[in-house]
Amino acid sequence: MATTTTPRTPTRQDPDRQPADANHSGSQHGPRPVPLAVWPVGQRSAQYQRAGRYHPGCTTHPGKMLPDLARRIVVEYSQPGALVVDPMAGTGTTLVEAALVGRRAVGVELEARWAELARANAEHVLDPGARALVRVLQGDATDLATLLGEDAGEVDLICTSPPYACDVGNLDTTNWGAGHNLCATAERNYSADRANLGHARGPMYAQAMAAVYGACRAVLRPGGILAVVTKNTRRKGHLFDLAGLTVALAEAAGFTYLQHVIALHAAVRDGDLVARPSFWQRTQTSKAAARGEAVHLVVHEDLCVFSAGPAQLTSSSKETARAH
Ligand SMILES: C[S@@+](CC[C@H](N)C(=O)[O-])C[C@H]1O[C@@H](n2cnc3c(N)ncnc32)[C@H](O)[C@@H]1O
Repeated sequence: MATTTTPRTPTRQDPDRQPADANHSGSQHGPRPVPLAVWPVGQRSAQYQRAGRYHPGCTTHPGKMLPDLARRIVVEYSQPGALVVDPMAGTGTTLVEAALVGRRAVGVELEARWAELARANAEHVLDPGARALVRVLQGDATDLATLLGEDAGEVDLICTSPPYACDVGNLDTTNWGAGHNLCATAERNYSADRANLGHARGPMYAQAMAAVYGACRAVLRPGGILAVVTKNTRRKGHLFDLAGLTVALAEAAGFTYLQHVIALHAAVRDGDLVARPSFWQRTQTSKAAARGEAVHLVVHEDLCVFSAGPAQLTSSSKETARAH
């Protein structure tokens, strides 16, 4: 696929959107195009990517990154021996994939439950040599500098997927079929604890994520990379442009927007896209269609890539963008 350029993710009005992005892309010269790439990371289903490798307990976490996407981000934007950090580590997908390709990896996760699972996951997947490359810390992403200690300022790559400011939960279709809740309240949004950013919405979400990106900026080495996997969602008929908000917040924190990647979750088969909708997606999409909303299944996530400083894409990143 040829490299092309695209304007920044356009911002659209949404009632949940907050004004923190007043300056984003707001140069008087108009939006600056960034390189666009498409990565087909869904050739194998999410289940298949984890099966026989990841800790079985990972199924209890409701919002995991695709392992093939995490691996590709690490390979693309860091060198062997680099220090990779995920400040919202969940089950530790980034850490596992980073260690498998010879990077040091530190994860921070707010919930004791998920931090423990990330440790168990690293233990389960990695041999002792690779396991020694991984550290999992329980804490708040905004305390990143303190948590990293002497590694603060030395981080080469931050690879993360924040909560999406939309409901996530593990689906219990049997319960739902019996007329009860589709997902247990205690499981919704990663935790029953309202301090978890999975519960934050609107201006509160933007403010909290601004603090997280500020903390990321503070621990990256000059020219280090921040790679954020996001997904635009719809609520009550409105698009929530999380990719646009993420760009705005990261730029406000002092990052330079480098590249936009469409992480394709559909498989490409014989020139066609084969969607891999979850039960939840299928249900939501058909309900929206029944309400008369013109929506389709979303088959991608947006990966927004930034530099801590004015650095350019590495030549290997450019090569890969060209190759795809
Ligand atoms: C989208 S999930 C990340 C999933 C992870 N990439 C994986 O593959 O398992 C977001 C995670 O952020 C965690 N989180 C929420 N608020 C946080 C905070 N303030 N500091 C650190 N982690 C937080 C949630 O508990 C959740 O596990």
